[in-house]
Amino acid sequence: MKAAKTTPPTTNKHLIRWVEKMAELCQPERIHWVDGSQQEYDRLCEELVQAGTFTRLNPKLWPGCFSARSAPNDVARVEDRTFICSLSKDTAGPTNNWEDPYVMRRRLKQIFRGSMQGRTMYVLPFSMGPVGSPMSQIGVQLTDSPYVVVNMRIMARIGKPVFAEIDKDIQRVVPCMHSVGAPLAPGQQDVPWPCNDTKYIVHFPETREIWSYGSGYGGNALLGKKCFALRIASNIARDEGWMAEHMLIVGVESPTGEKTYIAAAFPSACGKTNLSMLIPPKGFDGWKVWTVGDDIAWIKPDAEGRLRAINPEAGFFGVAPGTSARTNSNAMATLARNTIFTNVALTPDGGVWWEGMTDQPPAECLDWRGERWTPEIGKASGRTAAHPNGRFTAPASQCPSIDPEWENPEGVPISAIVFGGRRASTLPLVYQAFNWSSGVYIGATMGSETTAAAAGTVGKVRRDPMAMLPFCGYHMGDYFRHWIKMQRNLRSTPRIFHVNWFRKDAEGRFLWPGFADNMRVLKWIVDRVRGRALSLESPIGWTPRFEDMDWTGLDFDRASFDALQQVDRAQWKREVMDHEELFLDLHDHLPPEMIYERELLICRL
Ligand code: OXD
Ligand code: MN
Repeated sequence: MKAAKTTPPTTNKHLIRWVEKMAELCQPERIHWVDGSQQEYDRLCEELVQAGTFTRLNPKLWPGCFSARSAPNDVARVEDRTFICSLSKDTAGPTNNWEDPYVMRRRLKQIFRGSMQGRTMYVLPFSMGPVGSPMSQIGVQLTDSPYVVVNMRIMARIGKPVFAEIDKDIQRVVPCMHSVGAPLAPGQQDVPWPCNDTKYIVHFPETREIWSYGSGYGGNALLGKKCFALRIASNIARDEGWMAEHMLIVGVESPTGEKTYIAAAFPSACGKTNLSMLIPPKGFDGWKVWTVGDDIAWIKPDAEGRLRAINPEAGFFGVAPGTSARTNSNAMATLARNTIFTNVALTPDGGVWWEGMTDQPPAECLDWRGERWTPEIGKASGRTAAHPNGRFTAPASQCPSIDPEWENPEGVPISAIVFGGRRASTLPLVYQAFNWSSGVYIGATMGSETTAAAAGTVGKVRRDPMAMLPFCGYHMGDYFRHWIKMQRNLRSTPRIFHVNWFRKDAEGRFLWPGFADNMRVLKWIVDRVRGRALSLESPIGWTPRFEDMDWTGLDFDRASFDALQQVDRAQWKREVMDHEELFLDLHDHLPPEMIYERELLICRL
């Protein structure tokens, strides 16, 4: 059967032909070319309400907000079903799942055949980065999920202006295929969250293509995010001499109006959104942290040989649990309207709730599965009201701390790069790398305890180089080499730091208050970058002394700080031995700098 379709709002023949070919394959009932308008968004949201996917929240409490519940088997990124199908297995490297691209293509053709029957295929053009910026990239996602379309409208620039860019025909478009894998037979009743037990998240780096099947959730389905802006973009960036990184971007403004931009890489669910929206603590009068992005940075050398960065996204896809007026009031203000919640709890007054939002849980609510939940039921069953990876999709423009420069097409200048992880021991609160290559080593050997953002065990330390382990679209060893090489094109190199907000004492208590007090660390970083702060040389890098930090408004004693900053040689020797695991895997592609940096570190210890 031929799909009912509207007239394409583009003259690009390749695009029109590709859409026709994919429609022949997937056999949707209708084709809809997404214009990105408010009317279209409102209509799709209304259809999602009718379909039972969305619940409209109480407009008096949560204006313009909706809540969705996913299927219980579709709640996170699926790394074991994520593939990098480069021509050679060696190009993908040992940290990626690889499959022969010819074999994979054949398999995908089979599973996509008829996969959209009974559904609408949306043609969704999107720009990662401001439309028309020299740093932006364009994709077109074909999807049978209206939930994806409305989320993508928040997360990226979509619709008509992007078709206009495509029609200029100056830039390659990345084709992104997406099906939830749940065709409908004639007359068959749909479910609120269609998906398939079989999932494939597939990237073809050489032809710059994405094919995603079976999931409607987050990074599996909003293809501009992890699939394009990290896995495919990391390949484009390596070829073109720039960097696609899993990093937040903030601008730290001093009382004199001096602004210093910092990019920071942390593994999933380690507080990137919180740090990107930090409000300085009492006593830091005149200091301000501006948000450019909370998850992804595209970083390029400019004509002056400085790195400049854009946030390719237009919204935040943040983890809801733990977000509160106390931990991140900017996030709470951002998500107060026009936000889509997924897998959080619904309260009887038509609001949402998640663990950590308030000290007092609601007396009763519907949990993320739609079942009645009370604090007593929660305690007895061990079930949380919201899923630990429950999310909010909120427009970045609504963030009170959004940087006036956040959509600057040229990006913002980056003075410091920060790596960090969730580590209970060994890693001090903060230290600075001796130089670029020792900084690359620090990033390459980063580790963190796993969280709920990906399916799998929670709480085990895994090496996560530059927080890119699940997101680097090629061989990690070559990625380190690319990092090392980047410095050659720079006249001024950002300083590199490592932070750990999560160190614990012997009793398992956090040693550092975190959140707003992380400003003290940011200030030391800014002062180091500006040549104003002193530090001590340690075997692992430059570390601040107690007197190098600003303690205004916090009663924190020297002994506690020393415990937090302690570099224990025995622990560190074990730590460096742990680095070996990754290095054995990657050895034949490792740049020599990584080997020598490791040797130097061992010698210093
Ligand atoms: C994310 C992640 O969703 O890193 O941002 O998992
Ligand atoms: Mn992320």
